[in-house]
Amino acid sequence: MIRLGDNKIENPIGVFDSGLGGLSVWQELIKLMPNEDIIYFADSGNCPYGNKTKTEIIDLSIRNTNFLISKGAKIIVIACNTATAAAIEILREQFDIPFIGMEPAVKPAALQTKTGNIGVLATKGTLESERFRQTKNKYTKGVIVHMQIGEGLVQAVENQEIETVETYHLIKKYIEPMLKNDVDKIVLGCTHYPFLIPIINQLLPSKVELINPAPAVAKQTQKILFQSQSQSQDVGIYEFYTSGNEAILNAFLIYIGIMKSK
Ligand code: DGL
Repeated sequence: MIRLGDNKIENPIGVFDSGLGGLSVWQELIKLMPNEDIIYFADSGNCPYGNKTKTEIIDLSIRNTNFLISKGAKIIVIACNTATAAAIEILREQFDIPFIGMEPAVKPAALQTKTGNIGVLATKGTLESERFRQTKNKYTKGVIVHMQIGEGLVQAVENQEIETVETYHLIKKYIEPMLKNDVDKIVLGCTHYPFLIPIINQLLPSKVELINPAPAVAKQTQKILFQSQSQSQDVGIYEFYTSGNEAILNAFLIYIGIMKSK
Protein backbone atom coordinates (compact mmCIF):
# COMPACT_ATOMS: atom_id res chain seq x y z
CA MET A 1 0.00 0.00 0.00
CA ILE A 2 1.18 3.51 -0.79
CA ARG A 3 -0.14 6.33 1.36
CA LEU A 4 -0.12 10.10 0.99
CA GLY A 5 -0.83 11.85 4.29
CA ASP A 6 -0.15 10.99 7.91
CA ASN A 7 -3.56 10.47 9.44
CA LYS A 8 -5.72 7.37 9.36
CA ILE A 9 -8.03 7.20 6.36
CA GLU A 10 -11.67 7.78 7.28
CA ASN A 11 -14.88 7.23 5.29
CA PRO A 12 -13.05 7.33 1.99
CA ILE A 13 -14.36 7.47 -1.52
CA GLY A 14 -13.44 4.07 -3.00
CA VAL A 15 -12.18 4.05 -6.58
CA PHE A 16 -11.27 1.06 -8.71
CA ASP A 17 -10.08 0.41 -12.22
CA SER A 18 -8.57 -2.51 -14.09
CA GLY A 19 -5.27 -0.75 -13.45
CA LEU A 20 -3.70 2.68 -13.45
CA GLY A 21 -6.13 4.39 -15.84
CA GLY A 22 -8.61 5.32 -13.13
CA LEU A 23 -5.98 7.64 -11.72
CA SER A 24 -7.13 10.06 -14.44
CA VAL A 25 -10.45 10.10 -12.57
CA TRP A 26 -8.71 10.29 -9.18
CA GLN A 27 -7.00 13.49 -10.38
CA GLU A 28 -10.39 15.07 -11.09
CA LEU A 29 -11.84 13.88 -7.77
CA ILE A 30 -9.10 15.53 -5.72
CA LYS A 31 -9.31 18.74 -7.75
CA LEU A 32 -12.99 19.06 -6.96
CA MET A 33 -13.00 17.56 -3.45
CA PRO A 34 -9.66 18.17 -1.74
CA ASN A 35 -11.21 17.35 1.64
CA GLU A 36 -12.17 13.80 0.80
CA ASP A 37 -10.08 10.76 1.70
CA ILE A 38 -9.74 8.41 -1.26
CA ILE A 39 -8.74 4.80 -1.48
CA TYR A 40 -7.71 3.65 -4.96
CA PHE A 41 -7.51 0.04 -6.08
CA ALA A 42 -5.65 -0.76 -9.31
CA ASP A 43 -6.39 -4.30 -10.47
CA SER A 44 -3.22 -4.27 -12.57
CA GLY A 45 -2.70 -7.99 -11.83
CA ASN A 46 -5.78 -8.71 -13.98
CA CYS A 47 -5.39 -5.90 -16.52
CA PRO A 48 -6.61 -5.46 -19.21
CA TYR A 49 -10.33 -6.05 -18.64
CA GLY A 50 -11.20 -5.01 -22.19
CA ASN A 51 -10.90 -8.47 -23.75
CA LYS A 52 -12.35 -10.45 -20.82
CA THR A 53 -15.85 -11.94 -20.76
CA LYS A 54 -18.69 -10.11 -19.04
CA THR A 55 -18.79 -12.80 -16.32
CA GLU A 56 -15.08 -12.41 -15.60
CA ILE A 57 -15.40 -8.62 -15.37
CA ILE A 58 -18.42 -8.94 -13.05
CA ASP A 59 -16.51 -11.32 -10.74
CA LEU A 60 -13.50 -9.00 -10.60
CA SER A 61 -15.70 -5.94 -10.01
CA ILE A 62 -17.46 -7.70 -7.10
CA ARG A 63 -14.08 -8.60 -5.62
CA ASN A 64 -12.81 -5.02 -6.03
CA THR A 65 -15.97 -3.66 -4.41
CA ASN A 66 -15.67 -6.04 -1.44
CA PHE A 67 -12.09 -4.92 -0.95
CA LEU A 68 -13.00 -1.20 -0.97
CA ILE A 69 -15.94 -1.76 1.37
CA SER A 70 -13.66 -3.71 3.75
CA LYS A 71 -11.54 -0.54 3.87
CA GLY A 72 -14.55 1.57 4.82
CA ALA A 73 -15.55 3.10 1.46
CA LYS A 74 -18.73 5.21 1.68
CA ILE A 75 -19.25 5.42 -2.09
CA ILE A 76 -17.61 3.65 -5.01
CA VAL A 77 -16.46 5.25 -8.23
CA ILE A 78 -16.01 2.67 -10.97
CA ALA A 79 -13.22 4.51 -12.77
CA CYS A 80 -13.40 2.09 -15.66
CA ASN A 81 -15.73 2.23 -18.65
CA THR A 82 -15.34 -1.49 -19.28
CA ALA A 83 -16.27 -2.52 -15.72
CA THR A 84 -19.17 -0.06 -15.67
CA ALA A 85 -20.55 -1.49 -18.92
CA ALA A 86 -20.33 -5.07 -17.67
CA ALA A 87 -21.06 -4.82 -13.97
CA ILE A 88 -22.68 -1.65 -12.63
CA GLU A 89 -26.24 -3.01 -12.61
CA ILE A 90 -25.20 -6.15 -10.74
CA LEU A 91 -23.08 -4.18 -8.27
CA ARG A 92 -26.02 -1.87 -7.55
CA GLU A 93 -28.23 -4.92 -6.96
CA GLN A 94 -25.75 -6.68 -4.69
CA PHE A 95 -24.34 -3.86 -2.58
CA ASP A 96 -26.06 -1.26 -0.45
CA ILE A 97 -23.70 1.60 -1.28
CA PRO A 98 -23.87 4.27 -4.02
CA PHE A 99 -21.93 3.57 -7.23
CA ILE A 100 -20.81 6.17 -9.75
CA GLY A 101 -20.04 4.68 -13.14
CA MET A 102 -18.41 5.93 -16.31
CA GLU A 103 -19.27 5.61 -19.91
CA PRO A 104 -17.99 7.13 -23.14
CA ALA A 105 -19.27 10.72 -23.34
CA VAL A 106 -21.06 10.36 -26.68
CA LYS A 107 -23.90 12.62 -25.59
CA PRO A 108 -21.90 15.88 -25.30
CA ALA A 109 -19.89 14.92 -28.38
CA ALA A 110 -23.06 14.42 -30.44
CA LEU A 111 -24.57 17.66 -29.17
CA GLN A 112 -21.46 19.69 -29.99
CA THR A 113 -20.26 18.25 -33.30
CA LYS A 114 -20.39 20.57 -36.30
CA THR A 115 -19.33 17.99 -38.87
CA GLY A 116 -21.86 15.35 -37.78
CA ASN A 117 -19.04 12.87 -37.23
CA ILE A 118 -17.69 11.85 -33.84
CA GLY A 119 -15.03 9.31 -32.92
CA VAL A 120 -15.04 6.97 -29.93
CA LEU A 121 -11.85 5.28 -28.82
CA ALA A 122 -12.54 2.58 -26.22
CA THR A 123 -11.96 -1.06 -25.32
CA LYS A 124 -13.60 -3.99 -27.07
CA GLY A 125 -15.62 -4.72 -23.91
CA THR A 126 -17.05 -1.21 -23.83
CA LEU A 127 -17.78 -0.83 -27.54
CA GLU A 128 -19.46 -4.23 -27.77
CA SER A 129 -21.52 -3.82 -24.59
CA GLU A 130 -25.29 -3.52 -24.51
CA ARG A 131 -24.95 -0.45 -22.31
CA PHE A 132 -22.89 1.40 -24.91
CA ARG A 133 -25.24 0.31 -27.71
CA GLN A 134 -28.18 1.78 -25.81
CA THR A 135 -26.39 5.06 -25.00
CA LYS A 136 -25.31 5.44 -28.60
CA ASN A 137 -28.81 4.78 -29.93
CA LYS A 138 -30.33 7.22 -27.48
CA TYR A 139 -27.99 10.19 -27.88
CA THR A 140 -26.42 10.15 -31.32
CA LYS A 141 -29.35 10.33 -33.73
CA GLY A 142 -28.32 12.05 -36.95
CA VAL A 143 -24.62 11.76 -36.07
CA ILE A 144 -22.18 9.20 -37.46
CA VAL A 145 -20.20 7.47 -34.70
CA HIS A 146 -16.80 6.15 -35.76
CA MET A 147 -15.82 3.52 -33.21
CA GLN A 148 -12.30 2.26 -32.72
CA ILE A 149 -10.96 -0.34 -30.31
CA GLY A 150 -7.73 0.96 -28.80
CA GLU A 151 -6.02 -2.45 -28.77
CA GLY A 152 -2.67 -2.22 -26.95
CA LEU A 153 -3.14 1.28 -25.53
CA VAL A 154 -4.10 0.16 -22.03
CA GLN A 155 -0.94 -1.97 -21.86
CA ALA A 156 1.14 0.97 -23.12
CA VAL A 157 -0.07 3.04 -20.17
CA GLU A 158 0.28 0.18 -17.66
CA ASN A 159 3.88 -0.43 -18.79
CA GLN A 160 4.57 3.31 -18.82
CA GLU A 161 5.46 3.08 -22.49
CA ILE A 162 3.67 6.31 -23.26
CA GLU A 163 6.24 8.46 -24.99
CA THR A 164 7.52 5.75 -27.33
CA VAL A 165 7.60 5.50 -31.11
CA GLU A 166 5.47 2.31 -30.96
CA THR A 167 2.71 4.00 -28.98
CA TYR A 168 2.77 7.02 -31.29
CA HIS A 169 2.29 4.75 -34.32
CA LEU A 170 -0.44 2.74 -32.64
CA ILE A 171 -2.37 5.92 -31.84
CA LYS A 172 -1.79 7.22 -35.37
CA LYS A 173 -3.26 4.00 -36.79
CA TYR A 174 -6.42 4.48 -34.70
CA ILE A 175 -6.86 8.23 -35.13
CA GLU A 176 -6.11 8.71 -38.83
CA PRO A 177 -9.23 6.89 -40.14
CA MET A 178 -11.36 9.03 -37.83
CA LEU A 179 -9.77 12.20 -39.18
CA LYS A 180 -10.35 11.02 -42.75
CA ASN A 181 -14.01 10.73 -41.80
CA ASP A 182 -14.03 14.37 -40.69
CA VAL A 183 -14.62 13.83 -36.97
CA ASP A 184 -14.37 16.99 -34.89
CA LYS A 185 -14.88 15.34 -31.47
CA ILE A 186 -13.07 12.26 -30.21
CA VAL A 187 -14.41 10.66 -27.05
CA LEU A 188 -11.83 9.02 -24.81
CA GLY A 189 -13.88 6.00 -23.74
CA CYS A 190 -11.29 4.40 -21.49
CA THR A 191 -9.78 5.94 -18.38
CA HIS A 192 -6.26 4.95 -19.40
CA TYR A 193 -6.38 7.13 -22.52
CA PRO A 194 -6.20 10.62 -20.90
CA PHE A 195 -2.58 9.77 -20.06
CA LEU A 196 -1.98 9.56 -23.82
CA ILE A 197 -3.42 13.03 -24.54
CA PRO A 198 -0.01 14.68 -25.17
CA ILE A 199 0.70 12.06 -27.83
CA ILE A 200 -2.80 12.12 -29.32
CA ASN A 201 -2.64 15.92 -29.56
CA GLN A 202 0.47 15.69 -31.74
CA LEU A 203 -1.76 14.03 -34.34
CA LEU A 204 -4.84 16.22 -34.12
CA PRO A 205 -5.66 19.35 -36.10
CA SER A 206 -6.72 22.15 -33.74
CA LYS A 207 -10.40 21.91 -34.73
CA VAL A 208 -10.66 18.39 -33.26
CA GLU A 209 -11.51 18.24 -29.58
CA LEU A 210 -10.89 15.36 -27.20
CA ILE A 211 -13.66 14.63 -24.72
CA ASN A 212 -12.80 13.07 -21.37
CA PRO A 213 -15.75 12.23 -19.08
CA ALA A 214 -13.66 12.23 -15.87
CA PRO A 215 -14.55 15.81 -14.75
CA ALA A 216 -18.26 15.00 -15.11
CA VAL A 217 -17.79 11.83 -13.04
CA ALA A 218 -16.11 13.86 -10.27
CA LYS A 219 -19.02 16.35 -10.34
CA GLN A 220 -21.56 13.55 -10.08
CA THR A 221 -19.67 12.02 -7.13
CA GLN A 222 -19.66 15.39 -5.38
CA LYS A 223 -23.39 15.77 -5.99
CA ILE A 224 -24.22 12.38 -4.49
CA LEU A 225 -22.02 13.00 -1.43
CA PHE A 226 -23.68 16.39 -0.95
CA GLN A 227 -27.17 14.90 -1.24
CA SER A 228 -26.38 12.19 1.29
CA GLN A 229 -24.64 14.75 3.53
CA SER A 230 -21.53 12.62 3.71
CA GLN A 231 -18.97 15.19 2.63
CA SER A 232 -15.74 15.39 4.61
CA GLN A 233 -14.24 18.61 5.99
CA ASP A 234 -10.69 17.35 6.69
CA VAL A 235 -7.60 17.37 4.52
CA GLY A 236 -7.67 14.44 2.09
CA ILE A 237 -5.63 11.32 2.85
CA TYR A 238 -4.93 8.99 -0.06
CA GLU A 239 -4.15 5.29 -0.19
CA PHE A 240 -3.25 3.31 -3.29
CA TYR A 241 -3.44 -0.47 -3.56
CA THR A 242 -2.61 -2.73 -6.47
CA SER A 243 -3.09 -6.40 -7.28
CA GLY A 244 -0.02 -6.04 -9.51
CA ASN A 245 3.48 -4.78 -8.90
CA GLU A 246 3.67 -1.99 -6.32
CA ALA A 247 6.94 -0.64 -7.75
CA ILE A 248 5.17 -0.03 -11.07
CA LEU A 249 2.30 1.76 -9.32
CA ASN A 250 4.84 3.84 -7.41
CA ALA A 251 6.73 4.76 -10.60
CA PHE A 252 3.47 5.71 -12.32
CA LEU A 253 2.39 7.96 -9.42
CA ILE A 254 5.72 9.74 -9.80
CA TYR A 255 5.40 9.90 -13.59
CA ILE A 256 1.99 11.62 -13.44
CA GLY A 257 3.12 13.96 -10.67
CA ILE A 258 1.01 12.61 -7.80
CA MET A 259 4.17 11.71 -5.85
CA LYS A 260 7.66 13.09 -5.79
CA SER A 261 10.64 10.83 -6.43
CA LYS A 262 12.78 10.30 -3.33
N1 DGL B 1 -9.57 1.87 -17.77
C1 DGL B 1 -10.40 0.82 -18.34
C2 DGL B 1 -11.60 1.48 -19.04
O1 DGL B 1 -11.93 2.61 -18.73
C3 DGL B 1 -9.51 -0.04 -19.14
C4 DGL B 1 -10.03 -1.32 -19.51
C5 DGL B 1 -9.06 -2.44 -19.70
O2 DGL B 1 -8.45 -2.85 -18.73
O3 DGL B 1 -9.02 -2.94 -20.82
O4 DGL B 1 -12.26 0.89 -19.85
